[in-house]
Amino acid sequence: MTTVDDLAEARALLGDLVAGAGRAVVFTGAGVSTESGIPDFRSPGGIWSQRQPIYFDDFLADEDARLEDWHRRFEMRKLFDAATPNTAHRAIAGLVQSGIVGAVITQNIDGLHQRSGVPEDKLIELHGNATSAGCLDCGAGMSLDDAFAELEASGHAPRCFTCGGLVKARVVSFGQPMPVHEMGRAEAAARDCDLFIAAGSSLVVYPAAGFPLAARMNGATLVIVNRDATEQDQAADYVLRGTIGAIFEPLAVSAP
Ligand code: APR
Ligand code: ZN
Repeated sequence: MTTVDDLAEARALLGDLVAGAGRAVVFTGAGVSTESGIPDFRSPGGIWSQRQPIYFDDFLADEDARLEDWHRRFEMRKLFDAATPNTAHRAIAGLVQSGIVGAVITQNIDGLHQRSGVPEDKLIELHGNATSAGCLDCGAGMSLDDAFAELEASGHAPRCFTCGGLVKARVVSFGQPMPVHEMGRAEAAARDCDLFIAAGSSLVVYPAAGFPLAARMNGATLVIVNRDATEQDQAADYVLRGTIGAIFEPLAVSAP
């Protein structure tokens, strides 16, 4: 494992690795969105330093847990709506448009990869997306506007207009089953790539955190770009230590 702390060196190395890649994959965590004003989870002051996760079973069983979950969605929605894609998002979208990156696997639910121009068929949202909601029973969609209006009017967590089932933001909570189709797409991407860039993740939450290791096992070059040490630095070929936006900036400038 080679660790690079110098910005110019990190930029040059990332540029060389990308230029030499045939089928690259970018894997992102919350650290990619902090420069857009959205806090991550495990940095000092991050989301989990302020509150505990709401587990899926609690959402199903307890109205107070559901109300707290919706309260948090409402808060996060304001942050997401105010955020704009940053340099790293633009660089990643440029790498997709130039054909170098064949898939973006993200743990993020903020929708910033879509808004930066990554097309749906290249984006794999392992933990869902907080910009829409759906019924847990029949799958019927519900807009966040309708969900919040329901909450406001009744004081209760929103129920499906079609079947009366529980409605939840379309994100994967702790204890909730992972989306099968996205997991299959991510497995294929990790298996087929020759360069796997993991950016802005502490790499502690599985099964998502298994994909960098899977790519490495399949012979890809694994690059971790992160401010702090991660659980998988030892497994990486290169660790680029620093601010993601600064490290990705040359790639954003050269984006098509
Ligand atoms: N530049 C470089 N690194 C950064 C930056 C930045 N601007 N901002 C944050 N980081 C790094 C932090 O050092 C941290 O190691 O990004 C990492 C973010 O790690 P986490 O907060 O643990 O976020 P993530 O890995 O995406 O969490 C995974 O956990 O709570 C669940 O579902 C949630 O998808 C999330 C999952
Ligand atoms: Zn329903």
